[in-house]
This record gives sequence, C-alpha cells and structure tokens, in this order.
Amino acid sequence: MAVIMDGNGRWATKRGLPRSDGHKAGTEAARAVVTRCRERGIGHLTLYTFSKENWGRPKDEISFLFDLLTRFVSREADTLLERGIRLTVFGELAGLPLTPRQALAHVIKKTAGCRDMRLNLALNYSGREEILRACRALAAKGVPPADITDERFAAELYTAGQPDPDLVIRTSGELRISNYLLWQSAYSEFYFPETLWPDFTAAEFDKAIEEYRSRRRRFGLTGDQTEKI
Ligand code: IPE
Ligand code: IPE
Ligand code: MG
Repeated sequence: MAVIMDGNGRWATKRGLPRSDGHKAGTEAARAVVTRCRERGIGHLTLYTFSKENWGRPKDEISFLFDLLTRFVSREADTLLERGIRLTVFGELAGLPLTPRQALAHVIKKTAGCRDMRLNLALNYSGREEILRACRALAAKGVPPADITDERFAAELYTAGQPDPDLVIRTSGELRISNYLLWQSAYSEFYFPETLWPDFTAAEFDKAIEEYRSRRRRFGLTGDQTEKI
C-alpha cells in the first residue's frame, strides 16, 4: 500500500488556520493509518512525506515540516517497536537537516529487527531520481547491458526486496502521481478520494481497501484469463 498524503494546506486554509496546523493535523491521520494498516495485517506501507520538489516551498514551512517529522518519529519509536513495525526511508537521508536525520537514523536502527510490518517514509524523494540512481548503480558495477533485467534493476531501487504497491491512494482530489513510485506503480490500482489528508480516518482507509477489493486486476490479460487467477 502506498499513500500520497495530500491536502494539509487546503484543510487548514478552509478553517482560516495557518498551513502548519494542517500539517500537524496530518500527522494524526498518518498515525491512524499506520495503526489501521498494522491491525489489518498489511505488510508494507509507504507514505509520501516530503518530495524533492517540496524543497521549493517557503523556508518556514519546510522547517516546520521537519520539526514535526522529528517529533513524530521520536514519539512513535516505542510504539513502532512494540508493534513490530520496521521504519525505512526512501530518499537521500544525507540531504536532510541534521536533527531529523539523527532522529530517523535512531529509529531505523532501533526497529531494524522488526518483522511484522514495514513503514517506509518517502522523504526527500523523487521517483525519477530513484530510477536514475539505480541506473548509476548498475553502471558503476559495470553490469553488461544485456544483464539489466527487471529484477536486477528493481534491486537497485529503494524498494528492493519489497512488493510493488497493490494500491496507491492520493487524498485531496488531485489526479496525479507527482513523481511518486514511478517504477513500482506500473500495475498498481489507484484510489483518489476527495477527502483532505487530515480528515482521512481509519474508516476511510477501510473504504479504500473495500474499493480495491471490488477491482479486477488484469495485468495485460483478458477478462477470462484473469477470472482464473
Ligand atoms: C501534503 O499537503 C503535505 C506535503 C506535501 C508535505 P500539502 O501541503 O501539499 O497541502 P495542499 O496540497 O497545499 O493542500
Ligand atoms: C506530493 O504532494 C508530495 C507529498 C504528499 C509529500 P504535493 O502537494 O507536493 O504535490 P503537487 O505539487 O500538488 O503535485
Ligand atoms: Mg499538495
């Protein structure tokens, strides 16, 4: 499962509040979704937390977001460990400010042995950059062109060893992917609720899964063929 947590700013503006209040409320929604995911036995959850393009936002907003992230991961560390949730970051950790980087590194290490669920935060993330990074890694290893297969390529992505998302949810009614998991979402189902991210509850999450269950995935085959899968 992968989520583009969008609409924090609009949620706040609608209420006459500063955007930062929307981000704060958004962390509560994130916590609820992580909890629900774990309860439902979903093994992998990737949350789009901060894109490479988000660096273009006002400095104040960026520093607020990273303060919030630092507090969030520090506060949730014990809960993640108790619930067997392993934290991973998709994106260049080295490009983050020192304080969140240290907080994340601490929790990543602390939860490294957890096996029940994987929580990936796409942070300082760009899908195109991830693909380029994989190309560079293969080139640096001197892999012959004919040996570059799907599997070999995927092994160089942040998602190495994890399944492609079955479902990608983007809240707030925007119908775009915004440079998210470009390789991995090749055959994902998409769900675009109008709900703004801070209003996205466990019940909304269940609704998304229900909707997913009603879909028929074909993977390029005919309806008759997929009937038998
Ligand atoms: C998503 O909410 C959070 C981040 C991108 C960090 P936005 O901040 O994009 O909210 P809107 O889209 O402006 O409403
Ligand atoms: C995508 O949302 C990034 C995150 C949710 C972290 P944006 O709000 O940045 O995307 P655009 O700019 O509307 O495409
Ligand atoms: Mg947005």
